[in-house]
Amino acid sequence: MKLKGKVALVTGAGSGMGQAIAALFAREGAKVSVVDMDAARGQQTVSLIEQAKGQGKFISADVSKSADVEGMIKTTVAAYGRLDILVNNAGVPMGPTPIEEVSEDLYERIMAVNVKAIYLAAKYATPIMRQQGGGIIINVTSIAGVRPRPGLNVYCASKGGAIVLTRALAIELAADNIRVNSVSPVATDTPMLAKFIGEDKDYEKGREKFISTIPLGRLATPEDIAQAALYLASSEASLVTGINLEVDGGRGI
Ligand SMILES: NC(=O)c1ccc[n+]([C@@H]2O[C@H](COP(=O)([O-])OP(=O)(O)OC[C@H]3O[C@@H](n4cnc5c(N)ncnc54)[C@H](O)[C@@H]3O)[C@@H](O)[C@H]2O)c1
Repeated sequence: MKLKGKVALVTGAGSGMGQAIAALFAREGAKVSVVDMDAARGQQTVSLIEQAKGQGKFISADVSKSADVEGMIKTTVAAYGRLDILVNNAGVPMGPTPIEEVSEDLYERIMAVNVKAIYLAAKYATPIMRQQGGGIIINVTSIAGVRPRPGLNVYCASKGGAIVLTRALAIELAADNIRVNSVSPVATDTPMLAKFIGEDKDYEKGREKFISTIPLGRLATPEDIAQAALYLASSEASLVTGINLEVDGGRGI
């Protein structure tokens, strides 16, 4: 077990990659705070963890809200005594939209969940990790933040911002033994994919179009991303900080 005795918090853990990360971390021995704004989905992840004889606890939070983020971290420390691994995975997508049609509300929501939430989580987690003698932060970004796709303008910008915020935090927090890295998935088989394709478009055709742009010829699975996050969370990556691990089948080349 790679995470025995560790305490992890995973946001957006009620679905897709967050669920896979939470379940894998629990199988590897971590106690996991399962954070989501959707309680039914979050509870489902806790049930999966418990069925596999792991330990998990659901915490309801909207990661774009300061009080919720402070609360999710405080609740974790109250329940499990510490916080070793923070995974900022929750994110919101957009459908293909010409820039002149992107509303300011959509811009603000995407930036709030995909970028501001990382700042908020770091703000509240850092003092705890520093006091413990170290910690690990993993941000789930996107290959769209490295190699943008047309029409996903603001989403791509948010993920590019999250990648740079990762590097900025890595250099700032290295002296505190806090490692900060990101994982950049390519298009991944989760409920979010339909949104990127465009809800008015043919899903199967859109999926094939995405696959045709991936040199290794397939979408990512939530498990691909969970395994990358596990590496970054493990002691095998103890000298790794500030990287953006592209799990993208070569899409970023
Ligand atoms: N699916 C893809 O193709 C893809 C590709 C690259 C990167 N990503 C990124 O991967 C991450 C996970 O995406 P996924 O595909 O697993 O998505 P998903 O839609 O399957 O799951 C996202 C989860 O996050 C939760 N969530 C959304 N906003 C939240 C908020 N403000 N507070 C708390 N919880 C919130 C949702 O309730 C949901 O359970 C996201 O950051 C996404 O941007 C996705």
